[in-house]
Amino acid sequence: METFLGPEAMRAWSESRRAEGKRVGFVPTMGYLHEGHTSLVRIARKMGCHAVAASIFVNPTQFGPGEDYERYPRNEERDLAMLSAEGVAAVFIPGVKEMYPEGHQTHVEVTGVSQGLCGAIRPGHFRGVATVVAKLLLIARPHVAVFGEKDYQQLAVIRAMARDLDMDVEIAGAPIVREPDGLAMSSRNKYLEGEDRKAALCLYKGLCAARDLYAAGVRVPEKLVNVARARIAAEPRAKLEYVEARDPETLSPSLPASGRMTILLAARVGPARLIDNITLEGKAA
Ligand code: PAF
Repeated sequence: METFLGPEAMRAWSESRRAEGKRVGFVPTMGYLHEGHTSLVRIARKMGCHAVAASIFVNPTQFGPGEDYERYPRNEERDLAMLSAEGVAAVFIPGVKEMYPEGHQTHVEVTGVSQGLCGAIRPGHFRGVATVVAKLLLIARPHVAVFGEKDYQQLAVIRAMARDLDMDVEIAGAPIVREPDGLAMSSRNKYLEGEDRKAALCLYKGLCAARDLYAAGVRVPEKLVNVARARIAAEPRAKLEYVEARDPETLSPSLPASGRMTILLAARVGPARLIDNITLEGKAA
């Protein structure tokens, strides 16, 4: 596995693979990897990418003042061992200076789909995400880039950006990977200790309550949202930020006639800010 610190070396690697006729897959990450990330590598391979690259970069521009940029968990050695074990061929690990050299003055702003949900609570977050992902895609030049569906709004923002800017890349979404008890895997789960770890399960339990009601035939979004909200409100360690039902494709609050909807939520549990979601579809049981 090769590692590259600078954009030129990373791009040269990708261009060589493309010249060999290989399909290049790319998995951007902020490191502190878990099985959710390794599943993205496997999905890239399943999509026919025989040369898969990853990046590790804790992007300062997507963190707001007072957020966890400084304490975001990092373990480069372990990350590299995990990526190598997955057969990743190249890893791009730039420093902040490589990504944002002095004089950097260009940002990517996706409007509609960035608004509301996490966008309302973390102003500037999706601008930071869109900017760094645009840069990473221009550097890594993949045919396919894979992102986890846990960050559902992020995936929608990246899809909109790639479409609107005519980027020559396929954006793929990958299903949420959960711990055995149902907690969605996240690098930020590292912040959860003892009672907080147990309490964090209320996000998933809230989504399951909505899923069960949906399976019983309830299609009124307020009812599904309320049952999830009640489940989280019952957990004293959790502080709900939002729970909303949205169109799975557009993230619009007006839902399609098909009855498909995604319930998205965010809550703070102890020192961690956690997000999760579930897409509900199909007939009543
Ligand atoms: O999902 C993440 O880990 C990050 O937001 C991403 C897409 C790597 C951009 O920094």
